Amino acid sequence: MLGFQPPAIGEEEIAAVAETLRSGWLTTGPKAAELERRFAEFVEAEYVLAVASGTAALHLSLLAVGVKPGDEVITSPITWPATANVIVHAGATPVFADVRDSDLNIDTDHVADLITDRTKAIMPVHLAGQVADMDPLLTHGIPVVEDAAHAAESAYRGRKIGGLSDATCFSLYATKNIAAGEGGLISTNDAGVAAAIEDLRLMRRGHGSLYDIVVPGYKANLSDVLAAIALCQLDKVEAHGEIRRRQFAAYDEAVAELDGIEPLARDPRDTHAFHLYVVRIDPDRAGGTRDEYQRLLAEENIATSIHFLPVHRLTAYRELLPDQPSLPVAERAGDEVLSLPLTPAHSEDDIADVIAALRRVHESFR
Ligand SMILES: Cc1ncc(COP(=O)(O)O)c(C=O)c1O
Repeated sequence: MLGFQPPAIGEEEIAAVAETLRSGWLTTGPKAAELERRFAEFVEAEYVLAVASGTAALHLSLLAVGVKPGDEVITSPITWPATANVIVHAGATPVFADVRDSDLNIDTDHVADLITDRTKAIMPVHLAGQVADMDPLLTHGIPVVEDAAHAAESAYRGRKIGGLSDATCFSLYATKNIAAGEGGLISTNDAGVAAAIEDLRLMRRGHGSLYDIVVPGYKANLSDVLAAIALCQLDKVEAHGEIRRRQFAAYDEAVAELDGIEPLARDPRDTHAFHLYVVRIDPDRAGGTRDEYQRLLAEENIATSIHFLPVHRLTAYRELLPDQPSLPVAERAGDEVLSLPLTPAHSEDDIADVIAALRRVHESFR
């Protein structure tokens, strides 16, 4: 089976883990601090805080911007459920705006319509590596927390993401462009937000055996073992990005000839992070449904994935929000999206195999 997104880990990461284990720092220490410093340079932001996961990054950021029980937070339904779950964890209510048909990022006009007195944050998701349209979201005077799990290298209209909003949340999960296995990074230019997250992510240690805490915080710090892997991945981010870009180009050329199979739109004004190659399969033109394509590709030994099923249609959210209005663009997309294998761990031959299999499946419906 050709894996969907196996990690691109080399001898450098293995050596860095061994060196860290020998250093005696298993938990948060100098490697986590170095990662924060290096990532702050990378995204050109004032503060970066390393945390245990992308989910923790989103959760602590919502708390840091002041989201409280009873509040509402507007977000996209085309995301990993964690984006909505952390709103619930903060005691607030997720309010789903529909997405744009072109790139499946949040529809900023719909966001404007959904704002109420209770709206305390807006959480756009930069799907697949394409930045959401940030300017309209930043005009409401409401805190914006970005889900940038897919967008480590993205830029919006020439400006790197990381310092555009109140908090930008990255993931170091195993499949991500900077993959440590698990982990998250929050970047911000707001000293107050950074200080709040620092208090929340780990009980502060005092001097000697005495200690005090200022909030009942969480345990959401990042270990040095994982930070050491992330630092190696950061060294490779450009080289890996170039491989991903070439894989995108090969897929673009191939799907241009396959009727009914179209990639998500990428805005040429922005820098795309090339994190996921998502196509939409129009069953009328492609001859088969997304589910049929996924099954037939699996029979060809090609693993694919789905990014994403609309969150508001999942059981927990159908129960939590029984009066949720329909979101037609997201709901149609949820039936049509399919992500093709993409990772620097795959060779050009691997991608050529995926393309050949996709052509055979497409041909089988003619
Ligand atoms: C869009 C999106 N948001 C949030 C997350 C959560 O990140 P993590 O797995 O690091 O908690 C993920 C994926 O893992 C994701 O794809």
